[in-house]
This record gives sequence, structure tokens and C-alpha cells, in this order.
Amino acid sequence: MKKVVLAYSGGLDTSVCIPLLREHYGYDKVIAVTVDVGQPEIDIKEAKERGEKLSDSYREVDAKEEFVHDYIFRLIKANGNYEGYVLGTAIARPLIAKHVVEVAEEEKADAVAHGCTGKGNDQLRFDAVFRTTDLDVVAPIREMSLTREEEKRYASEYGISFATEKRWSVDENIWSRSIEGSELEEPSFVPPEEIFQWTVSADKAPENAEVIKIGFVQGIPVSLNGTKMGGVSLIRKLNELGGKHGIGRTDTIEDRVLGFKSREIYEHPAATILLEAHRDLEQLVLTRNELRFNDFVDRAWSELVYQGLVMDPLYESLNAFIDKTQERVNGLVYARLEKGVARVVGRQSPNALYSKDVSFDAKLEQKGAEGFSMYHGFQSRIVRRDQKR
Ligand code: ARG
Repeated sequence: MKKVVLAYSGGLDTSVCIPLLREHYGYDKVIAVTVDVGQPEIDIKEAKERGEKLSDSYREVDAKEEFVHDYIFRLIKANGNYEGYVLGTAIARPLIAKHVVEVAEEEKADAVAHGCTGKGNDQLRFDAVFRTTDLDVVAPIREMSLTREEEKRYASEYGISFATEKRWSVDENIWSRSIEGSELEEPSFVPPEEIFQWTVSADKAPENAEVIKIGFVQGIPVSLNGTKMGGVSLIRKLNELGGKHGIGRTDTIEDRVLGFKSREIYEHPAATILLEAHRDLEQLVLTRNELRFNDFVDRAWSELVYQGLVMDPLYESLNAFIDKTQERVNGLVYARLEKGVARVVGRQSPNALYSKDVSFDAKLEQKGAEGFSMYHGFQSRIVRRDQKR
């Protein structure tokens, strides 16, 4: 008996995959797995209903805690960001793939499958993790080069129905919401307000600003306004607060791994607030040399994650380096939320490298700086002198 485990979201692509895996690929048993990384509850519920109906065996894995602790916290420590994109979809894919592989190993399946097309980044992210095993990898939509219209035809042929036709393609988890497709594909198309669900537009945000206080321990956010909070609830709370103030919208042209440019829209209030706050705290506690070097490390980290290459040993090495610098990233950050903007307005840390002894108002032995100043800009002085001759 040939068995395959499919990464199942409940949407059109992955739903069509189930009958195709049976009829086109000849699998006898299709096991559908939905990995919960904080999608809306309604999506999880629909995936379960549809998955149970269509597949031979359906499983749901709650990976929210794991997603936050092993993936999002790493991202915060690394100031994860790719061309301004907070890496929401990218960072979830390897975790989903990992759980699909685990089920496949338990079930002694022959293959793993995903419903990604051959156009995007997600195929690469799933494949990169899937192919670290000996399992066969199947991607029906990509292999059969199906268009959206053809998929819809298959769906009705196989009796798969959706209550509402979705205008946009949305990918959502606890860290971000990504919206693409339809008219949004046209870079000049101004998106209607209705595509946004986590954030209000800045002009609808409350007139009054709100200052919040976020506590960090070793680079990880642990408290809000003095109350200790677990990662999942902290992120949810910040999504709500930030969203209310219209914070965390991105509309961008993104360079996909394959080199295609695509128009992408995201919502990510908690991510914006936490990344701003974390970066600011680093500025207080890390040395100038560390900060300069980190720019390079964080960028390398983000590129790997965007490409889904978390199995590259470099990812592990970068994380080890980052964890070392984060030992001193402890303290509090005050952020002001106001009309679409999260701005840091104060910070404090037991590890601060800031010294009052040399501050603006301090009485300093100023003559000591004379020698340093003497040769400052020495090379340009010579060039200028030569030009005058
Ligand atoms: N472009 C983003 C990425 O590659 C997000 C894709 C999300 N997909 C969607 N159907 N909205 O990570």
C-alpha cells in the first residue's frame, strides 16, 4: 500500500491535491496534516471538516508554542527582515514541513506532498526540508502545471466546494498576514481597505497615543507593561494593540528567490513593534563593533530564512553567534503607538553601555581628547593640502 502525507491548509490548492494524489499518482492512502501556526480558528475548523471528508486520515498539529519559541523568538533576536518584509510566511514553512515529515515517519509513508505552485517561494521552502529525508516528494499542482481555473474545474469534478469564492490569496499565522493575488498583482492598483483585517488605517486610529513598556530577557520579549507574558499571548496582545493604532502595514515589491518580482501586502503589528523595540535595545547594550557586525549577520540570517534554507548548517552557526550577543540584550523599552507608527521613546537596561560620566552635562577632563583630535582626519588633510599646491 502506497502512502503519502500532505501538508494540508484546507484551501483550493491542497484540497485538489487529495484526489489527484489518489487518481493521478496512484497513492492508496492520503494522510492530510494541518499544522496550526496561529491561522484564524475558522480556517483550522474548515480545514478539519474538509480534510476529514476528503482524505483517508486527517491530523491536526498544534505548533503555535513551538512556532513562537523556536522560530519567532529567533527571528526577533536576529532582527529578521527581508527587503522590509517581516518573514512571516517564510519562517512558518520549515516548521510545517518538519511536522509533515514527522507524521510521514510515524506512518511509514512513502512520500510527502505539498500544494505549492511552481511560481513562488513556498515550494522551495517545503522541498528544502522534505528533501533532507529519503521520502519521495510530490507537488501535484507544480508537476501538472495547473492554473487556478483548471484547479477549480478539478474541484467541482471531485465535489470539493467552497462556501465563498475568495478574491485574495491570504496566508496567515500568528506573526503576519500576507495578502496577494487578483488585482493586487498589478503594482499600481491601490488596495481597498477591505483587504486589511488586523490593522485599521492610520486615519481611523485613536487620536490619543499609547505608550507601552516591553521587557526583554536575552533578546526575547517576556513582559508587557510590567506583566510577565508567554510568547503566544504577548504577540496576540501586541497585534491587537498595534492593529488598533494602525501599525504594521507593508505594501512592497518583493524579489522572490526565483528572481521574479512580485507585489506583496502584509499586516504585522506585533512584529513591527517588537522588531523596533528589540533593535533599539541592542543599540543601547551592544558595542559599536558588535552592531556593525550584526548588520551583516542579521542579513545573512534573513536571506537564509527567506529562501527556506534553515537546514543549512550556516543557520545553526548564525544562531549560535546571535545567542551569544543576546545574552546582554536585557531591559525595558518604551514604545509610543500613534497613528500608524510605533516609535521608541525610552529604554533602560542593566547592561547599558551608556555612561553618564561622559554625557552632555558631565564635567569631563576635556584636554584628554586633544591628542585624539590632533590626527583625526589626517589623510584628508594631506589630500586637501596637495590640491592647494
Ligand atoms: N511572498 C511571501 C513569501 O514568499 C508571502 C507569500 C504568502 N502567500 C499568500 N498566499 N499570500 O514569504
